[in-house]
Amino acid sequence: MPDPAELRVLDTAVELFRAAAREFVNRASQAVKDKGRFCVALSGGSTPKRLYSLLAGSEAKAVPWDRTYFFFGDERHVPPDDPESNYRMVNEAMFSKAPVPPGNVFRIHAEKDATLAAQEYEETLRKFFDLAPDQAPRFDLILLGVGPDGHTASLFPGSAALDEAKRLVVVNWVEKFKTDRITFTFPVLNNAAFVLFLASGADKAGILHEVFDNPAAGLPSQRVRPEHGKLVWMADREAAGRTRRAS
Ligand code: 6PG
Repeated sequence: MPDPAELRVLDTAVELFRAAAREFVNRASQAVKDKGRFCVALSGGSTPKRLYSLLAGSEAKAVPWDRTYFFFGDERHVPPDDPESNYRMVNEAMFSKAPVPPGNVFRIHAEKDATLAAQEYEETLRKFFDLAPDQAPRFDLILLGVGPDGHTASLFPGSAALDEAKRLVVVNWVEKFKTDRITFTFPVLNNAAFVLFLASGADKAGILHEVFDNPAAGLPSQRVRPEHGKLVWMADREAAGRTRRAS
């Protein structure tokens, strides 16, 4: 039975991202000590940008960059220089500022046909993790965010990818944005050793209240329950303020 989600509430956004950076560095050091490498899947959107900036800035000395392998949990169907691109956001906040070996970054080639990009990325995962046909990769850390509708990665309520039980990476049509996204599926998210959700700001208070106080809501972000891993939500007080646990 997966462990229940742990909710860590930090008073301010500054404290939240510092705590997230410390957790990132802890996971990295532990994985490198145990296995010689640290495999992390990054989240997109706006929330994690401050974490990436911290890792490339004040925390840079503590990150084993040469032993860290960066993947993406999802991507918008746009080229890597597009303002909407998650890769672009991470590149500007971290990769361009830290000693990251280019061979350690595995971006989703979302400039291509979405189906092809998803298939290629699944192949990249299968090769890198040397997976058997029915096996999913085990990331040391997967970073996730949550949208106001309870989506995470690009697993949106009512979308087809929610039911994917075999493939690791799929194209997912998002009706409300009238666009395709390329996203990890639950088999990947729920096989991680550690999943860290980040939520910051008052505009996340409603959805965190739903996620934590209405377990039957069946939201995509509630379906992330690592089978043999740890699930931690880190939020600032503004975001967690309406949850029973934080009040
Ligand atoms: C994306 C993300 C998505 C994000 C949430 C929250 O590509 O947009 O993977 O799941 O984490 O939409 O986004 P914000 O951090 O911008 O609120």
